[in-house]
Amino acid sequence: MNPLVVYYSKKGSNKYLAERLARELQCEVEAIRPRLNLFALLALFGAIKMSPGIAPLRHDPGSFDRIVLCGPIWMGQLISPLRDFLKRYRASITKLYFATCCGSSDEDKDGTFGYATVFPRVRAIVGEKCVHCQAFPIGLVLDGEDKNKGDAVMKTRLSDSNFTGAIEKRSTAFVEKVSS
Ligand SMILES: Cc1cc2nc3c(=O)[nH]c(=O)nc-3n(C[C@H](O)[C@H](O)[C@H](O)COP(=O)(O)O)c2cc1C
Repeated sequence: MNPLVVYYSKKGSNKYLAERLARELQCEVEAIRPRLNLFALLALFGAIKMSPGIAPLRHDPGSFDRIVLCGPIWMGQLISPLRDFLKRYRASITKLYFATCCGSSDEDKDGTFGYATVFPRVRAIVGEKCVHCQAFPIGLVLDGEDKNKGDAVMKTRLSDSNFTGAIEKRSTAFVEKVSS
């Protein structure tokens, strides 16, 4: 059975990552559609751990042996569209791989807003079904000083022109993990 890539993206980087992973894994990709897709509300729902939920996926996650879930991190939270997806489908997920294109770097991963604070939240919902969590920090596509500049990190989007070098290597290793 093929994997299925599922994603939520507001500004496009996680959409790019999801589509790229799906192309390499030669599988289908589908966007999560929150019932209320308003950024301010989604950010609030992430923090208060309540939300109006997501529309049903067109694909049945139970028909796939591996699910790759992609999405951003906001304010150190597992954002509500990703959390809603995991809660809604956890019973039918066999193996989960989580990937995030995020603003925090490998150096900052353990801070309040670091990606490593979100990985245990994914595992808390799906338990041992979560095989691997991988961050794709946007700083990997920036040069020198820009890596540490908040505005450069927030403005940059993944694209064919910058998905090279360290981030491409990380993606190749991730695809190998999902495929093995
Ligand atoms: C309001 C806001 C809060 C954010 N908070 C975090 C954070 O706490 N940790 C982090 O690693 N990245 C954070 N980011 C950066 C996003 O995760 C990053 O820009 C991501 O690539 C956006 O994905 P998208 O283009 O798919 O929407 C934040 C971005 C926004 C807009």
